[in-house]
This record gives sequence, structure tokens and C-alpha cells, in this order.
Amino acid sequence: MKSLTTISRIEVLQRRKEIVRNPLPFHHKNFQKYGDTFRVDLGRKNRWVFTKNAKTIKYILQKNHKNYGKSVLQTKDLAKYVGYGLLTTNGGFWLKHRRMIQPAFHKKKLANLVHIMQRAIGTELKLIKENEFQDVYPLMGDLAFQVVAQSLFSADDLHIKMRRLKEITNANQQMLIKEMRLPYLKWWFRLNGEINKHLKLTEEARALLNDIIQKRIDLGQEKDDLLDMLLGARYEDGTPMARRQLIDEVLILFVAGHETTANALSFTLYLLAKHPEIQDKLYDELRAVSLDVEDKMQLLGQLSYVQQCIQEAMRLYPPVYFIDRESIAKDEIDNCTFDKGTVWLINLYELHRDPEFWRQPESFLPERFDASNKKDFSDYYFPFGAGPRMCVGNNFSMYEMIFTVAEIMKKYRLITEKESIEINPLITLRPEEVIIKFVSRI
Ligand code: HEM
Repeated sequence: MKSLTTISRIEVLQRRKEIVRNPLPFHHKNFQKYGDTFRVDLGRKNRWVFTKNAKTIKYILQKNHKNYGKSVLQTKDLAKYVGYGLLTTNGGFWLKHRRMIQPAFHKKKLANLVHIMQRAIGTELKLIKENEFQDVYPLMGDLAFQVVAQSLFSADDLHIKMRRLKEITNANQQMLIKEMRLPYLKWWFRLNGEINKHLKLTEEARALLNDIIQKRIDLGQEKDDLLDMLLGARYEDGTPMARRQLIDEVLILFVAGHETTANALSFTLYLLAKHPEIQDKLYDELRAVSLDVEDKMQLLGQLSYVQQCIQEAMRLYPPVYFIDRESIAKDEIDNCTFDKGTVWLINLYELHRDPEFWRQPESFLPERFDASNKKDFSDYYFPFGAGPRMCVGNNFSMYEMIFTVAEIMKKYRLITEKESIEINPLITLRPEEVIIKFVSRI
């Protein structure tokens, strides 16, 4: 049996300031020193293992997924603020809802949604200030939020409610980050009422969503949007979702769907701004097509270089940069034994830059995803996860990102003076200030 290196609690405590600021360099050094997988000792009850080993990752997420559920980080810490739904539950309860919700995201259903999506994108992109340097992250944040809101509710009169919902989800995320980074102060956050204040905000979000859902039911009109699909979805016994469950699932779609997409879009735009030669190639592809066509699905097939740029941006900056799992029973992986209850932290940021799999891993080379290369990345590229818990919104967000990047790049040349981009690893991997100038091509 092999034994893994364990990083001691003392070392973690000594380096806590650096880890709290940005844990990625700490893990990078550890992977370099101790190999693809190492343990971190966080106390008797906390058995944490970090890995960037491609085979181990596939084994946990796919091959032996039945032995690995979401950890308490999601099923308790996150769930208390976003509810108990697809993202935050395990076992039979999760499977029942995955079967019910997944059909709403099938390609055929998305063919209807892309029209709503493109309208929302068009409205948001009107907010770009031409020829001025500006931070695109807030713009992409609003865009991604509006796309989810419009795809769910296809209504134009929800601005105030949606603004409040966004404020609540942001405030709760900040609280969750505080709890995760300062776990030893959790008791104090409970005592001083902070956690309670945020739980009340979640209840306010639920009430707000309930109001929208009730109005839709009272209206009695079909809209062919995501909410209609969720209202029409049935369990195997033919019954619909209870109202509370429906609200939680909607809340989760907002939380899971907007920040991830905003991050990926912002990183993509920054990388394009840094590479004028790639912008030129992209413009050649875009010049040859009209974006204003009825058959959007066919259009998507013509935007392959746009897609490659987004895929490459998500390789370098995977919005979900850590995936967590907790083992249900003792297991043996690569000649090592792991106890029941081991929490695995899968580091996608490191895997996606591993020189064993990627030529020039630090460079932005969209062509590596060109289908003509006939390369299969499915063993070591997981921006949307892998196995049965793979992102349910993966096609949805790819379509959204392809349309957004296509619309922007057809109209503008992007310029940035920032030498490098700072990253802010929170729950998702966020960019810090993406300052770009949009120069009109017309
Ligand atoms: C660039 C955008 C996105 C990225 C990178 C992303 C990434 C991911 C990843 C890696 C997972 C799996 C997590 C795990 O295995 O623990 C996941 C799950 C999930 N995502 Fe996404 N996501 C994106 C956009 C979206 C969108 C737009 C939606 C919905 C509108 C969405 C809804 C969900 C849900 C509900 C889950 C949980 C699925 C389950 O456990 O059954 N995501 N996402």
C-alpha cells in the first residue's frame, strides 16, 4: 500500500493568510512537491484529499460515482442559502429530480429557448460604452443573470424583483465565503445573528419567486420557457413538484447558472483582447455568417472558432475550479486506502494546465479544440464536470456564451492594457477587473 504525503494542520495555520487570499498557489506548490494527490490534515474528523490526477478524477466522478456524493460544503453549507435541489442533494432524492429537470435542457427544448436568450443578450449588450475602457465583469454578470431570468420567466416587468434576487444571491454568497474561509468563527456568526440574517434573505428570495410562479399559474397562459417546463414536469408516479421544491430548484438554477457563465465570458473576452491575431481569425469566421437568422441551431454549427475560444478560456480558467465529493464507504484508489467520509477536492485548474496532457499549457491556443485535430479531451478536460452529476445547463450556457461572444466580436475590436489578469478564487473562479475597450468595427 502506498502512503500519501499529509500537509499538517500547523502548516495550514501558518500559511492561512496566503491560503485565504488565494489558495491556488499553495496547492500548486503542494502538487509540485508531493505529486498528483496529497492529504491535508484539518483535525480528527476532517479527512481532506486534494487531487489533480486525471484517472482518479474520472474514477470518482464517473466509474465509481455511486460511492461519492456531494460533501457537506454543498449539502449543508451552500444548501442552507440556496435550498435543497439538484445542485445540493444526493442519492435517490437527487436522481428523482435530475430525471425530472434534465428534459427541460435537452437540445430540442433549447431550440425554443435560444430566441429568448438572444433577445436578452441583445438588450444587455446595448449597455456597452464604445471606445471607453470599462470593467466588463459587471456587464457580463448582468447579462448572464438576465439570460437565466428571461429563459425562466420570459417577462419584461420583473426588473425590480430580479434586481433584489441578484442582491440576495450575492449577499448570501459573500456570507458563505466568510464561513468557509473562517470556519473557526462559525459559532460566532451564529451567535451574532449574521447567519440568521442571511437565512431570512433566502426566505425573502423564496417569497419573491413564489409570487412570480403564482402569477404565472393565475395567468393560465403557456410561455414555452423554463418555468413552463418545470411546472409541467412530473415524477414517475405522475405527480408534479411541490411548490417549495419548485422554488428551490429555480433558486438553484439562478445560483448555478449566472456567475459561472459571467466568469467564463469575462475571461474569454480578456484573452481575446490580449490576442489581436485570434480576434482577426474570429472576425473572419463571423464576417461570413449572419447572426440574424431564424434557425439559431444551424447558426451555432457555423460558429466553431467562437466555440473553440470559449473552450480554451474555460481550460485556462475553469469557473468551477474545485469539485468536492465525500466517500460513502472506504475505497482503494491507486494502491492507497481512503476511509469512509474522506472529502475529495478535485482541482480542475491544475488538471487543465497539466503539461502531461497539454502542449504549451499556459498559452491561449483555441485551435487545440479544432475537431479536425481529432483529439479526445474527455479524460482530462472537465469544465462542466463528468459522470451523472455533470452540469445540467452545459448546452444552455455554451449556446449563451457562443451567441454573446459572436455578437460582441462581430461588432467590436477589443483592446486591453492589462498585462495579466488577476483571479479571485471564491466559490467560483472569478476575474478581478477585466478592463477592456470596445472599438467599433463599423
Ligand atoms: C460556464 C458555465 C457553467 C459552468 C462552467 C458550469 C459548471 C458546472 C459543474 C462543473 C458542475 C458539476 C459540479 C459537481 O460535479 O460537483 C455543474 C453542475 C450544475 N450546473 Fe452548471 N455550469 C455552468 C452553467 C450552468 C447553467 C447556465 C445552469 C442552469 C441554468 C447550470 C446549472 C447547474 C446545475 C443545476 C448543476 C447541478 C447538477 C446535478 O448535480 O445534477 N450550470 N455545473
